[in-house]
Amino acid sequence: METAQSVRDTFDLGGRVAIVTGAGSGLGRASAEVLAGSGATVYCADVRGEAAEASAAAITAAGGAAVGRSLDVAKLADLEFLVAEATEAHGRLDIMCNIAGTMSESTILELSEADLDHIMSVNLKGVLFGCQAAGRVMVSQGSGSIVNMASAAVLAPNPNIGAYAMTKSAVVQLTRTLATEIGRNAVRVNAVAPGFVPTNMTSRYYVRPDGSVDEEMKELVLAPMAKFAPLRRVGEPADVAYCVLYLASDASSFLTGQLISPNGGVAMH
Ligand SMILES: NC(=O)c1ccc[n+]([C@@H]2O[C@H](COP(=O)([O-])OP(=O)(O)OC[C@H]3O[C@@H](n4cnc5c(N)ncnc54)[C@H](O)[C@@H]3O)[C@@H](O)[C@H]2O)c1
Repeated sequence: METAQSVRDTFDLGGRVAIVTGAGSGLGRASAEVLAGSGATVYCADVRGEAAEASAAAITAAGGAAVGRSLDVAKLADLEFLVAEATEAHGRLDIMCNIAGTMSESTILELSEADLDHIMSVNLKGVLFGCQAAGRVMVSQGSGSIVNMASAAVLAPNPNIGAYAMTKSAVVQLTRTLATEIGRNAVRVNAVAPGFVPTNMTSRYYVRPDGSVDEEMKELVLAPMAKFAPLRRVGEPADVAYCVLYLASDASSFLTGQLISPNGGVAMH
């Protein structure tokens, strides 16, 4: 019989240790805040070390446990170092959220090799290296949950973001394959495919070069997206962060190799 307490306990991450990459802003920061709010000790990691520190400071100020670390997910050594640091400090690593990502806009015909190499190194190798570094520790401890950030871009093709969609599609297949390989060790691997959420990455459509927001352009960009979504709105970082919490917690203990889609209903699969 489930009780109010046992239900709360299922989502409780007290005593768990998490790493969140891309925690310096947007969906990574929101996920770090929600995991910490549920009791986890969170390592906030980002290539912008100061932003990672700021996220950790905000969590700490709100009563949570977090530290900020500078790391480049494109470097396996950076991820191995952080995983080793967290594991040595706490004797465990329970949650790995591979959220850091970048965008590149170009048609397939115009895509340069340099842009392809960069987006592959962050969006695909960065997630793969996070899976490898954390997965090895989790397999040996016999527990853990890995959450990889994909995108709604994997569900339907769109012009100009082909390279981004290719990397995110590869993240989905990486997630599924790894899930088949380490499920027997009680390590789960799932992916999230958010729809449009205003963040630093997506605000490029309506933020001017000087950083100010073009409100008219913002309305022009967001209103049609909201209009065509069954839920009549775009996302908020917390919408994605609570999916991450579900996947990180024991509430999803029978779920692995899956792609869940907080997207307001714009795509259904
Ligand atoms: N915002 C959306 O609508 C949306 C939708 C689908 C998927 N996503 C995915 O969500 C993730 C987070 O995006 P966001 O919208 O919060 O963008 P964001 O730009 O706010 O956050 C991305 C973070 O990743 C960090 N980062 C970039 N390269 C890195 C590297 N090499 N090493 C470590 N950190 C690095 C950035 O510094 C930044 O803090 C990305 O993987 C993105 O592709 C976003």
